[in-house]
Amino acid sequence: MSSGVRLLVLGKQGAGKGTQAVRMAAHYGVPHISTGDIFRQAAADRTSFGLKAKEYMKRGELVPDDVVIGVVAERLAKEDVVDDGFILDGFPRTKVQAEALQQLLGPNGLDAAVDIDVPTEVVIDRISGRLVCRTCGTTYHVSKPPKVDRLCDKDGGDVVQREDDTPDAVKRRLDLYEQDTRPLLEYYDGLGLLITVDGDGDPDDVFGRILDAVEEARQSRLSAPR
Ligand code: AP5
Ligand code: MG
Repeated sequence: MSSGVRLLVLGKQGAGKGTQAVRMAAHYGVPHISTGDIFRQAAADRTSFGLKAKEYMKRGELVPDDVVIGVVAERLAKEDVVDDGFILDGFPRTKVQAEALQQLLGPNGLDAAVDIDVPTEVVIDRISGRLVCRTCGTTYHVSKPPKVDRLCDKDGGDVVQREDDTPDAVKRRLDLYEQDTRPLLEYYDGLGLLITVDGDGDPDDVFGRILDAVEEARQSRLSAPR
């Protein structure tokens, strides 16, 4: 198992998981694994798996557990993850997925589960105004668009609205969060791994809070007898 960090990021849709996971991965020098990004890439590549996943995503439904677990298991077995660690973004999202992850990683396989906590009214505003670069995944908001209309500041890719950022799909996704994903907070708390960070406010401030909380948790785990 790696010596780098092994973290997962939890939070409602629009809480800033992707925004912060990209920064965390760059900071720690570990791969960023977003199940949503993997599915969107497979859909863009028009693989049969991607086209099936797209149907679930468009409706705001969860992709079936066995499919998601298979994809993550394959990714976690790759050398970069084994050597360096990972930031998991958007996985797990159900108890079945969380238990499968524990099986895959074994005991002490995770440093922390970071919950980015943001009120529902704030996430609805963020998602309804979200714009995303089709190639590198950088996110923008209509109130803070790229410098050149619809072109990414970072790589010049097309900046578009996500297909599942429609009012109906957003409502369904948030309902499913309450039903399936919120119980994971208790699950990780029970394992002594939960870190809750206030996700409201400037993204740089949120990032600072995450780093402080993760470092504190890692230090206390290092000094605790196992
Ligand atoms: P996924 O791509 O993971 O989407 P999601 O969970 O709906 O979460 P989002 O990506 O919408 O939100 P985010 O928290 O990443 O926020 P972001 O950083 O973009 O999954 C999509 C679909 O794939 C699922 O619905 C499901 O179908 C399927 N799927 C994926 N994983 C699965 C799994 N494990 N099991 C089953 N199915 C699965 O930020 C949002 C906006 O806010 C952006 O515009 C951003 O710029 C802005 N923003 C971020 N932080 C701040 C801040 N601090 N202040 C102001 N604005 C901010
Ligand atoms: Mg995301």
